[in-house]
Amino acid sequence: MLTTDSLLNEFHRSRNYTVDLINGLTAEDCQAQSMDDTSPTKWHLAHVTWFYEVIVLKSYEKNFAFWNSHFAVLFNSYYNSVGDKHPRKHRGLLTRPSLTEVFEWRKNVESRVDGLMRDNLTPELRWLIQLGINHEQQHQELLLTDIQHLFYQNPLLPAHSSVDKTCNQFIKPFRWVEGISGIVEIGFTGEGFHFDNESPCHSALNQKHFLANQLVTNHQWLQFIEDGGYQDPQWWLDAGWAWVCSENISAPFYWNKNDFYFTFSLKGNLPIELSSPVSNISYFEAEAFTRWADKKLDGFAGVRLPTEFEWEAFAKTNSNMIDDLFGKVWQWTSSNYSPYPRYEAWEGIAGEYNGKFMINQMVLRGSSAYTSPGHSRTTYRNFFPTHARWQLTGLRLAKDSV
Ligand SMILES: [Fe+2]
Repeated sequence: MLTTDSLLNEFHRSRNYTVDLINGLTAEDCQAQSMDDTSPTKWHLAHVTWFYEVIVLKSYEKNFAFWNSHFAVLFNSYYNSVGDKHPRKHRGLLTRPSLTEVFEWRKNVESRVDGLMRDNLTPELRWLIQLGINHEQQHQELLLTDIQHLFYQNPLLPAHSSVDKTCNQFIKPFRWVEGISGIVEIGFTGEGFHFDNESPCHSALNQKHFLANQLVTNHQWLQFIEDGGYQDPQWWLDAGWAWVCSENISAPFYWNKNDFYFTFSLKGNLPIELSSPVSNISYFEAEAFTRWADKKLDGFAGVRLPTEFEWEAFAKTNSNMIDDLFGKVWQWTSSNYSPYPRYEAWEGIAGEYNGKFMINQMVLRGSSAYTSPGHSRTTYRNFFPTHARWQLTGLRLAKDSV
């Protein structure tokens, strides 16, 4: 278990890391909201502070008083048990409080949480602080994906130059690695923080299978495009084809064509690197790619997406054999985001954190180049709807025999 000092350090480190990420952004950059699914940077800065004020300080601080009680509604994301929420799609309209005031509020809440921890760090408070840290880390990644999405709406295609993050892949010979088959233990065990959706630990059955030692690359994706993959319904799920047609999808989200394909990232708009993992694709695209690769890509007959249990069992035992399980792109799996057997949501407000989203989403495993340091686990379950593609999402292939 972390000592009080270590937890204090971790708390302040996570708070400071958020502020580091926006170094170089203007107040205008922090204000705008680019679509309903994304949030303004200022809202992220405020919401992670709301979490500490409403979920930690309100329950534990003597003589608690809101900095501003209206913020309890403005910066509530989806917690129905807390009360009213400002509509998600209107977060960019909140020109007040100012960015300056949000920073003042952050500092105020931070010092009050610090005081609370030094005063009496009970086991429940310790756990809530760890939840607050992990929550802020999740929003750090969202802050980056949302800024990237916002900047992509601007014809100037600005770079977020103070952030040097890349998902480039180390080039190595391709090979299939045998996965872990038989009865495998899935889910979190042991000490340390984990989300409720990672537990309880339980047995699952993996059939014999193999996993690719690398992620699907831009080069392979280019072959899919050039072979008309986005124009041929035979590769697509029905819902996926309807999505491709209605949204005019013809390439990964940030790809744009000049003489050659470019891709937009926080570094700006640059030519795609063929050996890098493809990123910002939806589940629909990942699934269509496997159907196409099965029939059309040399040496890839029989490929499919791995299940989340295949991914996890491998990561727990052999992560040194595949060096891009973490830190490049989240990897789509063929697993629905469902509760594990005997799953129980957390009690209280935190019960709304994960369990209520276990419908109509697919699980992604690993982590991305934008994931905060210390926020990756072999048991971590990320999840998004089948059409979402503003996150750093890619895929790793699996197959049943080689
Ligand atoms: Fe949140």
